[in-house]
Amino acid sequence: MNKIDIENLRKKIEEYKAEKLADVEELRVKLLGKKGEITKLFEEFREILPEQKREFGKHLNELKTIAAEKIEQLRGELVDFVEGGDKTDLTLPGDFHNLGTRHPISIVREEILDIFSKFGYAVAEGPEIEDDWHVFTALNFPPEHPARDMQDTFFINPDASDPIILRTHTSSVQVRTMERQKPPIRVVCPGRVFRNEAISARAHCIFHQVEGLYIDKNVSFADLKQAILLFVQQMFGPDTKIRMRPSYFPFTEPSTEVDISCNICGGKGCNICKGTGWLEIMGAGMVDPNVLEASGIDSKEYSGFAFGMGIERIAMLKWLVNDLRHYFENDTRFLWQFHSVV
Ligand code: PHE
Repeated sequence: MNKIDIENLRKKIEEYKAEKLADVEELRVKLLGKKGEITKLFEEFREILPEQKREFGKHLNELKTIAAEKIEQLRGELVDFVEGGDKTDLTLPGDFHNLGTRHPISIVREEILDIFSKFGYAVAEGPEIEDDWHVFTALNFPPEHPARDMQDTFFINPDASDPIILRTHTSSVQVRTMERQKPPIRVVCPGRVFRNEAISARAHCIFHQVEGLYIDKNVSFADLKQAILLFVQQMFGPDTKIRMRPSYFPFTEPSTEVDISCNICGGKGCNICKGTGWLEIMGAGMVDPNVLEASGIDSKEYSGFAFGMGIERIAMLKWLVNDLRHYFENDTRFLWQFHSVV
């Protein structure tokens, strides 16, 4: 035995690379097994001169420690590799990930569309970025008419002669449907709309509507009243009553604002209906002949009705949501409350 043998063996150990656990075991046997190289050196150590024992003893012990550490290190690395790169305890229970829930606005939108589809209405959708024609002009808003201001329109290019705007109502989709399709027409138009309003508990600059349109021969105000009554009874319960108040929209004549009997207090008066017993839910009316003509429909042959409601408002009344902002903040503490509603 000499120092050079020990030094060479140390280098060999340090540089050794293992690819699999079996290589590590092979190394252990080769070094520390019964006939291993280090074991042999220890045997030789017994024979050497007493004055050399001290020095060689120290080197041999160091070598043995280095070998043992190397074997442990290689084994650790390969075990990690086999188990997937970290020291994960695979016996621990897994993390629970909640499934998402349907958004209350989606739930109510589907419910509204479902009811109208039973009445024979098809669903029509259209662009959110619109031109003046489909949002205003075809709907009988004369240029400079103050009703255009009432709608708090977002303009994309306010100075252009033909402005591009974000639609303020989905009535624009009704115009597109009339342009495309000959009567009879029976459609509901769900969608997102935009109005430049300060955000508060009762108003938001983005909200959702479902508007409806029915055009055929001899459609009357009685048909409108019946359609709305059937709808609210399905939506809010069979005892729900409606009340129509005269109103104004450029695209309908006559126009009405529709209230339902308060579904919270049953019409007796509570803080939701502010003691009146009635809750406003939509605007409606008979389609103005000018609107039919603008889309190429003969107003002498056909008549129709239209209505429009805010989905947020309907959902608020259904679930007593007291702040519109909840719908847009995506706070799961709010959203999760709807997880059992299908
Ligand atoms: N378009 C109207 C609004 O956005 C609602 C409405 C639709 C009123 C159809 C009457 C008829 O406020």
